Amino acid sequence: MNFKDALQGRRSVRRYETRPVAKEQVWALLEAAEAAPSAGNLRSRRYVIITGSQMRKVLALAAYGQEQVQSAPLLIVVCADVDRSSSRYGDRGSLYAIQDADAAAMCLLLAAHDAGLGACWNGAFDDALVREALGLAEHVLPVAIISLGWPAEVPAASLRRSLNEVVSWIE
Ligand SMILES: Cc1cc2nc3c(=O)[nH]c(=O)nc-3n(C[C@H](O)[C@H](O)[C@H](O)COP(=O)(O)O)c2cc1C
Repeated sequence: MNFKDALQGRRSVRRYETRPVAKEQVWALLEAAEAAPSAGNLRSRRYVIITGSQMRKVLALAAYGQEQVQSAPLLIVVCADVDRSSSRYGDRGSLYAIQDADAAAMCLLLAAHDAGLGACWNGAFDDALVREALGLAEHVLPVAIISLGWPAEVPAASLRRSLNEVVSWIE
């Protein structure tokens, strides 16, 4: 798939087949995620992979009952390691760690699309519940629960704002 097609063709996919995603494929997605830039090259991010239905249920509850979090065969929780970035950058480090995690999540979504998988970034969840369920340390902030699987739907393209609305040119 060429880069333009990957960018234009990616959709948030929320319905999945039940067949599992192979471990090697998940590994390839994580390698794509780790190709993302990071502040000071610290790579202040972590990934937690979930396949079990009981934990998916717990996370779906933490995500306000979002169905795709329960039904996806696999979840990848992308987290920001705030201490790692703050130890070099002080207060700015918490923002950098979140940006490091966001950049990785975006690369992962594009790689999933390129591999024919469907994925959705789920950002609406209760941080404390997710942290508790996954046993994350206080300095590790869950940023995205990515639900992932073989797609069982082809969503329509989302509406985009016009560039004129969002761009300012300053000389
Ligand atoms: C920060 C962030 C949080 C999001 N949270 C959710 C979410 O909790 N649940 C959900 O179904 N989709 C969520 N999405 C996906 C958006 O709804 C989706 O990207 C948007 O509607 C555009 O559709 P597209 O991804 O198909 O282009 C989130 C996306 C981002 C970037």
